[in-house]
Amino acid sequence: MAIRHFLSLLDLSPQELQGIINRAIELKKAPVNQVFAGKVLAMIFEKASTRTRLSFETGMAQMGGHAIFLSPRDTQLGRGEPIQDSARVISSMVDIVMVRTFAHQNIELFAKHSSVPVINALTDDLHPCQLLADIQTYVEQRGSIKGKKVAWIGDGNNMCQSYINAAKQFDFELRIACPEGFEPSSKMLQANSDRVSMSQDPKIAVSGADLIVTDVWASMGQEQEQKDREQKFADFQVNHNLLDGAAKDALFMHCLPAHRGEEVSEALLEDPKYSVVWSEAENRLHAQKALMEFLLANS
Ligand code: CP
Ligand code: NVA
Repeated sequence: MAIRHFLSLLDLSPQELQGIINRAIELKKAPVNQVFAGKVLAMIFEKASTRTRLSFETGMAQMGGHAIFLSPRDTQLGRGEPIQDSARVISSMVDIVMVRTFAHQNIELFAKHSSVPVINALTDDLHPCQLLADIQTYVEQRGSIKGKKVAWIGDGNNMCQSYINAAKQFDFELRIACPEGFEPSSKMLQANSDRVSMSQDPKIAVSGADLIVTDVWASMGQEQEQKDREQKFADFQVNHNLLDGAAKDALFMHCLPAHRGEEVSEALLEDPKYSVVWSEAENRLHAQKALMEFLLANS
C-alpha cells in the first residue's frame, strides 16, 4: 500500500475528508481507546505552538499511543543535518510524523524521504489540520458546509490558502477580502476561480456569509512586519458592525492565537452568538485523532 501523507487538503479525496470529519465527531463522544497501541508519533516543531502540540500529544495518549516532541534546539535537524537524512532516520523508528516548519518545500522533501505518513502541522503556505477542525465545528453547529458562503477577512496567509483548498474539497463559496499586496497565491485563486473570489472590501466578502473567518495580521516569522501591517490592515477588523451584513445565523471562527482589538474585536471574539473559537480549538484534538487513524490504516 502506498504511504498516504497529509501535506494539503488536496492529498485526500472529498469522500475521505468527509469520512474523517464524521469519525472526529464520533471520537469526540468516545475519546479513549487502544487504536494506536504500540504506535509512536514524532512531532517536529520549528515554530511555536500551543494547540497543535497539545492536541497531537493528547490524541496519541487517549488512543493508547505515544508522542515524542522534537525541537530544532535539541535535534541534529536544528544543527543542519539534511532534511532527507533526518526523514529517513526518524521514519525508520516511528509510525507517523507531524511537522511544523517554515518553507512548504521542507515538508515536501521530508515526506519524499519518509517511510511513514507525514502530517503538515503548519507551513508558511498551508495549515490543513486547522481546516479539519474548522469544518468539524461548522458541521456540528450548522450541518453540512456544502453550498454555504464563507468570508475570509485579512491576510492571504497559510490559513486563507487552506480555506481555498477547503472550498474545493468541501464544495463551498469563498469570498476573500485582503488589503492590496496581501492576497493569497494567484495560482490558487486562478485554479479555483469558479468558487473563490477576491476583493479589498470586507463588507462585500461578508455580505450574506454563513461563516466569517480571520487570522492574525502578522504570522509566525513576520513579527518584524507587525507595526506596518497594523496600519495596512486597519480597515479589516472583524467586529459586530461588519457582521451586520452577514447571514442571521452566521458563525465566526479564528484558528487562534488571536490579537484582540486587531483582527477581531474583543466583543465579537467573546460573543457566543457568533464565536465558536473555543470549540474550534478543541476540535483540533478530535479531528487529528481521526486523521492519524485514517493515515495509519491506509498506508
Ligand atoms: N491554531 C494553531 O495551530 O495554534 P497553535 O499555534 O497554538 O498550535
Ligand atoms: N497564520 C498563523 C496561524 C497560527 C496558527 C501563523 O502562521 O502564525
